[in-house]
Amino acid sequence: MIRIREISVDGAARLLQLMEELDHEADYLLYEPGERPMDEEAFRDHIQKLDPPGFGTFFVAEARRDLSSASGDETELAGYLEVRRLPWARVRHRAYLVIGILKRHGGKGVGTRLMKEVELWARRNGVRRLYLTLIAENRAAAGLYRKMGYEVEGRHPASMRLGDRYVEELTMGKWLD
Ligand SMILES: CC(C)(COP(=O)(O)OP(=O)(O)OC[C@H]1O[C@@H](n2cnc3c(N)ncnc32)[C@H](O)[C@@H]1OP(=O)(O)O)[C@@H](O)C(=O)NCCC(=O)NCCS
Repeated sequence: MIRIREISVDGAARLLQLMEELDHEADYLLYEPGERPMDEEAFRDHIQKLDPPGFGTFFVAEARRDLSSASGDETELAGYLEVRRLPWARVRHRAYLVIGILKRHGGKGVGTRLMKEVELWARRNGVRRLYLTLIAENRAAAGLYRKMGYEVEGRHPASMRLGDRYVEELTMGKWLD
């Protein structure tokens, strides 16, 4: 069973651990392993300063571990979604999001649930436009965003470098009626 919830500073250590695991296993995220610029203290500080309220948050998908797990924890984080916006009048109707799900929890609807949750958050907080970027060849991400009603708004050739290849990035967005 998966539970979606918003995290507070108390969840910083587990979330950072999840992000670092994703940096190791996912090819299409911004950071290569070891590049993430925040340690736990800086990350706690970052979460604490997500302010004013309603201008950014982190959602996590928490999965119950199977009983054979060697770890003492009953749950593990399967994925997260970060949403952020700027507070100024001319741009505060838009918010940017990033999502990551661990491979072992992929393809089971977790991404869809997180994307639905951020839409509820956006509507509650007066956000009208959600947008994101992705590497064009990331088929899983493109499939998820299209399914959720996002459209391609911009193309950015050679925007990221994966190994020795320069790859195209896309901006996708969705207007919330
Ligand atoms: C992209 C990602 C968020 C999808 O999350 P998910 O929990 O697997 O997605 P869901 O199970 O909710 O599936 C939703 C849709 O995504 C697409 N999708 C998911 N996994 C896919 C795969 N392996 N191949 C192709 N399409 C896939 C499908 O369109 C799917 O819809 P369907 O179930 O009706 O076919 C996840 O694969 C991930 O985090 N990958 C690594 C990090 C990453 O690339 N993040 C995005 C950066 S822009």
